[in-house]
Amino acid sequence: MGANFITGTGTDIGKTWLACALLRHWRAAGLAPAAFKPVLSGFDALRPELSDAGQLLFALGRESSTAELDAIAPWRFAAPLSPDMAAAREGRRINFDELVAFSRQAAAASPRPLLIEAVGGVMAPLDQTHTVRDWIAASGLPCLLVAGSYLGSLSHTLTALEALQRVGAGVTAIVVNETPGSTVALDATLEALSRFVAGIPLAAIARDSARADVAGLAGLLC
Ligand SMILES: Nc1ncnc2c1ncn2[C@@H]1O[C@H](COP(=O)(O)OP(=O)(O)OP(=O)(O)O)[C@@H](O)[C@H]1O
Ligand SMILES: [Mg+2]
Repeated sequence: MGANFITGTGTDIGKTWLACALLRHWRAAGLAPAAFKPVLSGFDALRPELSDAGQLLFALGRESSTAELDAIAPWRFAAPLSPDMAAAREGRRINFDELVAFSRQAAAASPRPLLIEAVGGVMAPLDQTHTVRDWIAASGLPCLLVAGSYLGSLSHTLTALEALQRVGAGVTAIVVNETPGSTVALDATLEALSRFVAGIPLAAIARDSARADVAGLAGLLC
């Protein structure tokens, strides 16, 4: 209990924002959470604090030093591309078995609550044959699925859920992170999803949510 991947229906959906909000919430509550971002593309070595790993480290009260980055984000690539493409640009490959072993080891050795931010959406390719959902399933941890409230998100969210369940990945909760300027209301998105998703908790996060709003979600994870 208390260990989750954080994945999403796609890139830029709010995985890091939500992870940092949860980490801050837990630390304010006196807990000592752990966080990892094992695979990172678009990494700028001159501004490591701006990367996802840098943001997670900041939320944990740690520095964006090379040692800290190596500890939580060992697969770092410069190109802002899907992980397989970003790795190929550097003549590298992500070894799927090593990635799974790293995640299992991180989960075994870390305090709770623990978050492991995945990369891109659930079907983002990691190598020639594996996508993010395979990584989550093989690591043996459930995930939080972050979705938006934009028009079209219902289909993306239900498709992502099917994809995760197809490979046996557990879904702890679906979090609808409000899309700014959407024609679809956050509540309407939640209500519609609730009709199609049975047995999986749904949580709504309004844009710039106060810490109190994150507390409800945190309660689902610990
Ligand atoms: N609830 C929110 N309130 C305010 N800003 C948010 C919220 N959710 C996301 N954002 C902002 O939206 C942008 C994208 O979010 P974020 O970086 O967390 O997405 P991501 O899913 O982690 O993306 P990536 O696929 O690159 O890892 C960021 O600038 C983030 O600060
Ligand atoms: Mg991110």
